Amino acid sequence: MRWGTLSGYGALVGAVRALECSPSAFQAALPQNASVNFAYQVKANETFQVPAGDLGYPTSPTGLPSLCAVSIQVQSLGNSTYGFGLYLPDNWNGRFLAMGNGGLLGGVNWLDMAPGSRYGFATMSTDTGHNATNANGTWAKDPNAVENWGHLAMHGSVVTGKIATAAYYEEDISYNYYSGCSTGGRQGLKEAQEYPEDFDGILAGAPAWWTSHLQPWTVKIALYNLPETADYHIPPALFPAIGDEVIKQCDPQDGLTDSIISNPLGCNFRPEELLCSANVTNATTAGCLTAPQISTLYNIYTDSIGENQTFLFPHLYPGSEAQWVLLSGSEPNPLGPNYVKYLLGLGDDWNFYDFDEDVQRLADKLQPGNATVDFDISAFHNKGGKLLHYHGMADGLIPTGSSNYFYNHVESTLTPQGIDLDSWYRFFFVPGMQHCSGTPTTMNAPWYFAGANQAAALGNTVYGVPGFRDEKHDALLAMMAWVENGTAPDTIIATKYKNDTTQAEVLRQRPLCMYPKEAKYKGTGDVDAAESWECKSLY
Ligand SMILES: *[C@@H]1O[C@H](CO)[C@@H](O)[C@H](O)[C@H]1NC(C)=O
Ligand SMILES: *[C@@H]1O[C@H](CO)[C@@H](O)[C@H](O)[C@H]1NC(C)=O
Ligand SMILES: *[C@@H]1O[C@H](CO)[C@@H](O)[C@H](O)[C@H]1NC(C)=O
Ligand SMILES: *[C@@H]1O[C@H](CO)[C@@H](O)[C@H](O)[C@H]1NC(C)=O
Ligand SMILES: *[C@@H]1O[C@H](CO)[C@@H](O)[C@H](O)[C@H]1NC(C)=O
Ligand SMILES: *[C@@H]1O[C@H](CO)[C@@H](O)[C@H](O)[C@H]1NC(C)=O
Ligand SMILES: *[C@@H]1O[C@H](CO)[C@@H](O)[C@H](O)[C@H]1NC(C)=O
Ligand SMILES: *[C@@H]1O[C@H](CO)[C@@H](O)[C@H](O)[C@H]1NC(C)=O
Ligand SMILES: *[C@@H]1O[C@H](CO)[C@@H](O)[C@H](O)[C@H]1NC(C)=O
Ligand SMILES: *[C@@H]1O[C@H](CO)[C@@H](O)[C@H](O)[C@H]1NC(C)=O
Ligand SMILES: *[C@@H]1O[C@H](CO)[C@@H](O)[C@H](O)[C@H]1NC(C)=O
Repeated sequence: MRWGTLSGYGALVGAVRALECSPSAFQAALPQNASVNFAYQVKANETFQVPAGDLGYPTSPTGLPSLCAVSIQVQSLGNSTYGFGLYLPDNWNGRFLAMGNGGLLGGVNWLDMAPGSRYGFATMSTDTGHNATNANGTWAKDPNAVENWGHLAMHGSVVTGKIATAAYYEEDISYNYYSGCSTGGRQGLKEAQEYPEDFDGILAGAPAWWTSHLQPWTVKIALYNLPETADYHIPPALFPAIGDEVIKQCDPQDGLTDSIISNPLGCNFRPEELLCSANVTNATTAGCLTAPQISTLYNIYTDSIGENQTFLFPHLYPGSEAQWVLLSGSEPNPLGPNYVKYLLGLGDDWNFYDFDEDVQRLADKLQPGNATVDFDISAFHNKGGKLLHYHGMADGLIPTGSSNYFYNHVESTLTPQGIDLDSWYRFFFVPGMQHCSGTPTTMNAPWYFAGANQAAALGNTVYGVPGFRDEKHDALLAMMAWVENGTAPDTIIATKYKNDTTQAEVLRQRPLCMYPKEAKYKGTGDVDAAESWECKSLY
């Protein structure tokens, strides 16, 4: 038995009892289907060394608080297993926080667990049942591994992780939270839908919720710009010129010229302004586009439509150009082809140039890993859960429109059931934010609010919102205030530091507004101060 002080955020002041931080102590507390890989104490300010060969998340977190680091393996379908990691800080705040994963990466996301442990949360991350980089999808040849990735590993890791946490502290967990972005956003929404008892509050960013359409679209959008020898191919060297023209046209259209595109959907963008004049011999060096390249731009900014006018997937928003990684290179991002080859089972030899709508039909039929999230998430509402969802408007990896599409369809599904969303599910656009974090240097939009993965983007020892550790600026604290005190967040103030590395001075702050409201400048006051803005309904 060990004693430590309890002084985390909102926690009781006193002492906390804990088991020994040893494999045998945890093993004794776990059901038979779980076995301990390791458990050892990490001292304050030490580095946790990620186990060698952890392919998905190799980066080791530094500057940790004093905590017990645990790795546990759980038996799943057939012979398959999944693993998860736990950080159990000495200064526990009584709460459990699960973090999400990214892409098809297999591994425990130790790096993203670290910020939560600095608040005092017991933090957990699952490896989703495989050990792999995004470039290698062969793990998905095993259907059990696909089911683990889709939903079983997160749920089972949460259930088992809670047992280990409560046993270690010899005390019940007071509240259970989740924070994830991208695949992590999908995992959060999937938990809300299928395992509503797991969490009290879920923070879901840029969710890859429509996996069965997102991954085929990842191949389709790449093909708009391939092969590189085609006359319609736009070389990445021209993306900045396109981004500049988009800002030139779309920034003033939102009512304030501030370099941030706040209403990309309302922008009537005219690509022809980028056409090369007759005397240009090299479009790339001249920074202009040929007529065939202009057609490619139209494809990029148009929804993906299938046979019989079926809506397949939303387009990338204008303003996402600085993150057009899916349109760079000589082949699609491996997430697309790996999904088709291994999760849809078309095999190693499938050539992405053979992509056609049959691929989409197959994905709709198979729904690998049951990964796509249903619109009926009423069970999470019925048990009193709170859901906070956000998406950057300059996201170049997962089209921003897939988030409002989800929100709108949940509303259409639940309103007839008599369920009003505002009391438990709120969605926030983040103007100028890229995929989960960051902003183009040409926009410098406020994007930081301690969302999932964001702390690591500022620095290895960051947590919360430096300088603004309160529920108005920190989405995780806002979620806690909502769950524990019933204070629902109308706005979250996002921050852009002058220098993200030092976080010493603020460049800009601005409120993020609850959809479908939008932040509007009041007309007077410093445009870079949050109080000069208000959330207005456009409808
Ligand atoms: C943590 O370690 C770093 C270098 O390893 C050191 O610079 C820093 O002062 C330490 N911080 C504390 C709080 O001990
Ligand atoms: C992951 O795979 C690598 C390379 O095959 C291996 O070295 C490592 O031990 C594996 N890690 C886990 C946790 O299975
Ligand atoms: C489990 O592994 C054993 C031994 O490798 C094998 O014989 C058996 O077929 C496997 N079972 C399943 C369900 O994969
Ligand atoms: C891909 O992963 C499999 C195991 O899942 C491994 O056997 C294979 O060597 C990996 N391929 C590469 C190119 O790393
Ligand atoms: C592990 O086994 C226990 C006891 O049989 C069961 O209640 C639990 O659901 C299992 N956990 C998982 C993650 O399968
Ligand atoms: C090319 O034509 C444009 C307008 O047609 C003109 O403004 C520009 O100066 C010309 N450039 C050269 C190098 O002749
Ligand atoms: C145009 O200029 C770019 C950049 O200098 C160069 O890579 C490319 O080969 C040129 N294209 C043609 C058709 O000369
Ligand atoms: C499109 O319509 C045709 C004719 O009604 C039908 O046979 C086909 O299945 C439809 N395709 C899709 C994807 O719904
Ligand atoms: C798949 O998801 C549906 C809801 O979309 C759910 O009813 C079903 O139980 C899930 N299947 C599995 C195997 O989890
Ligand atoms: C709840 O409200 C109390 C009183 O204002 C405050 O001390 C506490 O920190 C709040 N808890 C959370 C989780 O926001
Ligand atoms: C930000 O601060 C770091 C650390 O002091 C410094 O190395 C870097 O040059 C700064 N970046 C800018 C853009 O000023």
